[in-house]
This record gives sequence, structure tokens and C-alpha cells, in this order.
Amino acid sequence: MIKVVFLGFGNVNSHLFNTLNKSTEVSILQVFNRNQIRFNSPFENIPFTDDILRIVDADVYIIGIPDDAISSFSESLAFQNKLVVHTSGGAAMNTLSSKNRRGIFYPLQTFSKQRKVDFKNIPICIEAENPDDLQTLRKLGKTISENVVEISSEKRAKLHLAAVFVNNFVNHLYEIGGEILNEEGLPFDLLKPLIAETASKIKTLTPEEAQTGPAKRNDKKTIEKHLHLLADSPYTKLYELFTEQLNQKYGKEL
Ligand SMILES: NC(=O)c1ccc[n+]([C@@H]2O[C@H](COP(=O)([O-])OP(=O)(O)OC[C@H]3O[C@@H](n4cnc5c(N)ncnc54)[C@H](OP(=O)(O)O)[C@@H]3O)[C@@H](O)[C@H]2O)c1
Repeated sequence: MIKVVFLGFGNVNSHLFNTLNKSTEVSILQVFNRNQIRFNSPFENIPFTDDILRIVDADVYIIGIPDDAISSFSESLAFQNKLVVHTSGGAAMNTLSSKNRRGIFYPLQTFSKQRKVDFKNIPICIEAENPDDLQTLRKLGKTISENVVEISSEKRAKLHLAAVFVNNFVNHLYEIGGEILNEEGLPFDLLKPLIAETASKIKTLTPEEAQTGPAKRNDKKTIEKHLHLLADSPYTKLYELFTEQLNQKYGKEL
């Protein structure tokens, strides 16, 4: 049985809590959060504390708080030589205070409190300072996911960079698409089947194979028309940049 304490209860830790709590190999001993939280049914009986001095003894402590708070928070923990991990993609393992044994438990997915997620296929990226702790994290990861991978802080930083491109930036492009439609009184729903198929295609095609559109086709007339429609929009630069990138990639003069 792996005894776990959650430190922080935001998007990631609340999802990890829900899924790890279903495992018969994991026992969640406590949740710490600096402000009071209320557990919904059926979790009312999980002990909660907002007192950093009352954090109980466990095998793994999972810190799930914003990246810029990890360092000082981990330093403020009252205990030493325990396995303390964080869940960040972008923060190195040595962001954690060295007074505890450090590790990483990074679930590579986008989490929002209001969305349910199935952890089965989510990569759990782990790292630890010693082989025993790595083994504990591997065991913990395997209770919720079929995809547990050991990745160094350097490689995880690049993985996180890639994730920002394919998730945050793509999502921002949805926002832009929505704004453009909104100006014409058209609903964002019109784009949803296209968005769904774009994401679905890369399960069987490479991104290169899946790419279509005026920039790849070097369709100058359509590109000019789009730039005209954008007029002095703040998105003109982005359109030109993407078009240029695609042109370089697919090798046609625009
Ligand atoms: N969200 C994602 O999609 C995602 C995916 C993978 C990894 N991650 C990583 O997971 C970590 C947590 O992300 P998240 O989205 O779950 O964050 P979040 O929802 O913003 O986290 C909020 C939690 O952090 C606590 N907190 C905030 N500042 C704190 C401080 N200075 N000291 C102590 N506690 C503090 C909050 O406590 P109060 O309730 O008291 O304010 C709350 O429990 C980050 O390292 C992030 O990079 C996020």
C-alpha cells in the first residue's frame, strides 16, 4: 500500500486525488491546502488540514501548486528526508527543496476542475533522485495509467514546450476562430466537427500527412483574400507567420 498526502488541491491534484483514491494499492492519508476546501461526496471522510505543521507521515507527498510557488512551499515543509514530488512539466526536479528526497510525477494532460479525465492513457512522467523512489513512483503511476515513463528534467522541459504548442497555442487558435465567427454573428459550434476531425486524424496520419489548406497549396489568391479580410486585425501577423512557416516547410514560393 502506497501512502499518499496531497499538498495543494487545484486542477491537477484534485484529479489525481479522485483517480488514486479508487486504487486498492493506494491509501490517501490527508490533503493539505493553505485555504479550507470542501470535499464532495464520497470523499468527506478524507482528513484535511490547513496547518503545515500537522502534515502526517506518508510514503509520497504530491505538491500540486503553481510552478513559481513550488520552491518556497517545499522549503517551508516541516519534515525532512521524505519523498516529495511535484506535478509540473516545466519546473526542474531541483526546484524542490533538497531537505527532502525529490521526485517528479507529471501527468501529461490538460486538467480543468470541471472536466472528467480518464488517466488510463495519460503519460505519467516520473523522475527521482534514487532508484527506490523511482520504483515507488513507477508503482504509483501504474495504479492509474498504462503509460508511465521515466524522463529527465531536461527532456521534460522540452516535452512541456511541445505540449504548449499543441495544447495552449492550438486552444488560442480556437479562440481566434471563435472571435472571427462572432464578428459575423456565427456560432463557434460550426467549427467543432472540423476541430474534432483535425485532432482525430493524427491518430492515423502524421501531422505532415494531415496538413491541408491554402498555405500548403500555395493558393496565393485565397491567402491575399484572407489578409484583406483580416485588415488591421491583431491576428494578421499570426496568419502571415503561419503561412510563411508552412511555405518553408512545404517548399513552395508564395
Ligand atoms: N492544469 C494543468 O493542465 C496541468 C497539467 C499538468 C501539470 N500541471 C502542473 O501541476 C501544478 C498544479 O497546477 P494546477 O493547474 O493544478 O494549479 P492550480 O489549480 O492553479 O493550483 C491551485 C492550488 O495551488 C495552491 N496554491 C497556490 N499558490 C500557492 C502558494 N503560494 N502556496 C501554497 N499553495 C498555493 C492553491 O491553494 P488555495 O486553494 O489555498 O489558493 C490551490 O490548492 C503546476 O506545477 C502545473 O504546472 C498543470
